[in-house]
Amino acid sequence: MFVVVGVTGGIAAYKTVALVRLLVKTGHDVHVVPTADALRFVGLPTWEAISRNPVTTSVHDDVARVRHVALGQAADLVIVAPATANTLASMTAGLASDLLGTTLLATTAPVVVAPAMHTEMWRHPATVHNMEVLRARGVHVVGPADGALTGGDSGPGRMSEPEEIAAAALALVERPRDLAGVSVLVSAGGTREPIDPVRFLGNRSSGRQGVAIARAAADRGADVTLVAAHLDADVRPDPRVEVIAVGTADELGRAMDAAAADADVIVMAAAVADYSVAAVADRKLRKQDSPGALTLELVENRDIVAGLVAARRVGQTIVAFAAETVDDDEELVERARAKAARKGVDLLAANAVGWTRGFESAENALTIVGRDGDVVTSASGSKDDTAHALLDAIREMRAR
Ligand code: CTP
Repeated sequence: MFVVVGVTGGIAAYKTVALVRLLVKTGHDVHVVPTADALRFVGLPTWEAISRNPVTTSVHDDVARVRHVALGQAADLVIVAPATANTLASMTAGLASDLLGTTLLATTAPVVVAPAMHTEMWRHPATVHNMEVLRARGVHVVGPADGALTGGDSGPGRMSEPEEIAAAALALVERPRDLAGVSVLVSAGGTREPIDPVRFLGNRSSGRQGVAIARAAADRGADVTLVAAHLDADVRPDPRVEVIAVGTADELGRAMDAAAADADVIVMAAAVADYSVAAVADRKLRKQDSPGALTLELVENRDIVAGLVAARRVGQTIVAFAAETVDDDEELVERARAKAARKGVDLLAANAVGWTRGFESAENALTIVGRDGDVVTSASGSKDDTAHALLDAIREMRAR
């Protein structure tokens, strides 16, 4: 899960180090957004080392990637710990004065705050009012606990313990472990077929959807193996997933064949090259050898998923993907039906692609058809949402 942890300027920030560590240890992709004040308590290198992700605080960093909204859009969960009285007031007012403020305004994910302040500040009518407004907006509040505060005071205002914050926050977003004990094999990415030692034929698949399916299956308790072909650099498989890296269609096919024996569910999300170069040159092709034009002879690769279907054992569910360039939904469904029947798979997830849609985006829309051609479900949203919709369809069909 993509978790944003906002850290604001309170001494309890030191306890948030343990919270971040806990979230990373349980397999989450954690992005820390400290305010400038928070960095006076715990420094940036600590946050980077513990979260294993780059940390920025300013809306002016990484502008090209629109970081001021990108983090909020990508988040599955946002935790603000500690949340100072000042931060809670800013949140109530909807201030966008720093990266945490813009992230909070850009997100639709559940937001959890763990307030920390002196008892007088917590009980002040201004804070009481802010908490009422935030709660009414759907913000979840953990704590504060009653206990010793800095400077010898004691009373409500102490930030809750990291374990308690993590448990409360994750409970909001965690999926049922309805795939516990199920072994899931996923392929993702795009194969590359070499032409010569420096060139290849490839495709635009980023691996995002397949990696999301692998992560979603792990979230639901499955044992997951991912056969990954050339994932984009920013697409990182979940640490709970066993990754087998491959390059060509042939390598991907052999890895899938070998891993399929132990799989209960196989999802072929990879974009596999239909052809490879007949004679791969072992030296770099030179222009002077083919002046004016170059003809490459391509030979058809075997259909990997068809082979898996032919070798399918009882109880194994096989799912294929189809990225299609179509004019409308009707044509997409038509093509999906034909392909599902041709491949003999249990489910086929089809999505429309084009020059400007489908690949690099974090969003997707899938139409899922069954073996008999019926549309089982359509899902759109983040690639995590569509991954879960596909897993729902798989689970339902296995229950029947
Ligand atoms: N696939 C495969 N082996 C191949 C090519 C594709 O297993 N050599 C799988 C893909 O991973 C995907 C499904 O088959 O799950 C559909 O891929 P697609 O390229 O759309 O299918 P093709 O059979 O190549 O059909 P088309 O005629 O549209 O090219």
